[in-house]
Amino acid sequence: MRLKDKVAIITGAANGLGFEASRIFAQEGAKVAMVDYDAKTGEERAAQLKEEGGDVAFFQVNVADRDSVDAMVEEVVKHYSKIDILINNAGITRDGMLTKLSVENFQAVINVNLTGVFHCTQAVVPHMIAQGKGKIISTSSVSGVYGNVGQTNYAATKAGVVGMTKTWAKELGRKGINVNAVAPGFIETDMVKAMPDKIIDQMKSTIPLQRLGQPSDIGYAYLYLASDESNYINGTTLHVDGGIMM
Ligand code: CAA
Ligand code: NAI
Repeated sequence: MRLKDKVAIITGAANGLGFEASRIFAQEGAKVAMVDYDAKTGEERAAQLKEEGGDVAFFQVNVADRDSVDAMVEEVVKHYSKIDILINNAGITRDGMLTKLSVENFQAVINVNLTGVFHCTQAVVPHMIAQGKGKIISTSSVSGVYGNVGQTNYAATKAGVVGMTKTWAKELGRKGINVNAVAPGFIETDMVKAMPDKIIDQMKSTIPLQRLGQPSDIGYAYLYLASDESNYINGTTLHVDGGIMM
């Protein structure tokens, strides 16, 4: 029960890493606000975790839309009376080589992966400042740290997450708030399954552990950074990637 009585908001909670994190956090005693714009899957998954004994609630939100983020944060505070943890996990890809990437696909990824992280963090921080503590964890990527073919837009946002994390760690540390990022490598979710098989095989061969990661590998990294065990860690980016780049 490493998160007993903590209230956590997890974005992108209907699928992949966010769903697995919601399950792990609920098992560790957290009350989890599962946030996603995919209402159908989100409601189903929240019901599944409730059946398993979790204290979770689903909120349909587009993180790129500030009004819907603000309304969700107010609802969560009304429902659970506080916010201890924010996991900025929602993200999308619109891959394309630089020479073919449309301005629309560049902007769409910025809106969700970068502006969405800004919206959610800015909306929860006043509540964390008021209680004198909080944990904010945002999801970067191996692509943001080292770059990746076909991911101009995505890599820009994931590098941006590292920059915002360091800035917020400096601004908010004095308020008792820890701000960190997790940079996953290639993890077996729908996002990676959408990649061409040839590229996945190529990637696998460059990973020292010789396999893709599992969603729980990231869920446990989020858990560590959300728990009291990491209280002296601030402004870091934790690489969970099987050693793909060293
Ligand atoms: N690494 C190395 N080489 C790559 C590559 C990669 N990631 N992606 C593409 N290439 C190579 C291709 O093998 C191909 O090489 P050849 O010309 O020698 O055959 C060349 O680049 C051009 O690729 P395509 O023929 O596929 O070009 P396209 O215009 O049809 O498609 C693309 C471009 C949409 C970027 C497609 O190649 C693609 O989807 N690539 C995968 C991109 C990727 O790695 N996305 C990661 C998604 S998972 C994720 O984002 C999670 C995370 O944080 C890691
Ligand atoms: P996924 O595609 O399986 O799940 C993403 C979830 O985010 C979906 O439920 C989707 O509905 C939701 N979402 C997307 N846009 C949203 C929006 N505007 N508002 C609210 N919810 C939205 O993806 P996955 O793999 O679980 O990725 C989670 C995070 O991890 C993303 O930020 C991704 O960039 C990052 N990541 C994933 C890696 C991987 O290999 N799977 C590697 C590195 C980073």
